[in-house]
Amino acid sequence: MVRVHGGPPTHDWLGASSTAQLVLTVINRAGGTNASVLGFEEEGARRIEAIYSTPDVVAQRHWTRQTLRLRPGESVLDVGSGPGFLAAEMASEVGPMGRVSGIDISQTMLEMAQEKCSGLSMAAPIDFQLGDATKLPFPNATFDAAVSIQVYEYVADVDAALSEARRVLKPGGRILVVDTDWDSLVWHGADPALTASVLSAWAEHLVDPHLPGTLTRRLSSHGFTVQVHDAFAVLNPAYDPDTFSRGLIGLIKNFVPGRQAVSAKQAEAWSEQLSRAGEAGSYFFSLNRYLFLAVKQGAD
Ligand SMILES: C[S@@+](CC[C@H](N)C(=O)[O-])C[C@H]1O[C@@H](n2cnc3c(N)ncnc32)[C@H](O)[C@@H]1O
Repeated sequence: MVRVHGGPPTHDWLGASSTAQLVLTVINRAGGTNASVLGFEEEGARRIEAIYSTPDVVAQRHWTRQTLRLRPGESVLDVGSGPGFLAAEMASEVGPMGRVSGIDISQTMLEMAQEKCSGLSMAAPIDFQLGDATKLPFPNATFDAAVSIQVYEYVADVDAALSEARRVLKPGGRILVVDTDWDSLVWHGADPALTASVLSAWAEHLVDPHLPGTLTRRLSSHGFTVQVHDAFAVLNPAYDPDTFSRGLIGLIKNFVPGRQAVSAKQAEAWSEQLSRAGEAGSYFFSLNRYLFLAVKQGAD
């Protein structure tokens, strides 16, 4: 069972001109309202689905679930549930006696998640609702566990988000947070100066490209004890179509034109250079995700 609740109007992840907008229009297409821009939107939606379905991202989700170790019957909150892959997997883990709730500020993402999670058998009930990580729409002490994967780096007030996560967790409840430090990025194949310009513009797609270094202190100051630190490298040593970095090139190429004086022509040239490096066997990509598993201290 999947329910989607409404909420206040909000903005979309990566801004209206990029990914989420493309996905949104596919949903419009399903309603038959926006045929004039059909091809482009279909391409964008396929790109999102493809990135989250690559072996890289599947393995990353497996890594997070292995660390969280959900048990049958547990209730879990997915803060920034995105397209819903993790919510679906967690619903299978906690089973019919458990519960999964997802919140996201993007209605587009919520609708994708709902579609993905409808009709799961032998899984927990899943509810999705529009909401902000800094103002969670749940009573105190609701959940056994909370996850937030690649979300807090987009949130301006991370301390408010952690305070809210603590509030909705039961005493002893655990939180699993994953974020990226973009300084861990190694991307070989295009002209280094051009790559630097493109990536500098790309850094505008989130609030804090270096959040992980602050998370241990922040979690401690909000009454959590961090029990596990871990890192996961997304490693693409080849220009393979079914990889995270190949999908990321498309997202970046759409996002950067007009930002920090990067032109569409430069973005295209950068993408072309990476493609040629792939053909020449000189492509390389690596990016680290950092994981924090922490337990709520205290009874409040
Ligand atoms: C990179 S995606 C990650 C999605 C999902 N957690 C996953 O790993 O598959 C970031 C998600 O965070 C959501 N998001 C960004 N800021 C948020 C906020 N303040 N509150 C709730 N969700 C937010 C976006 O809409 C988007 O769905």
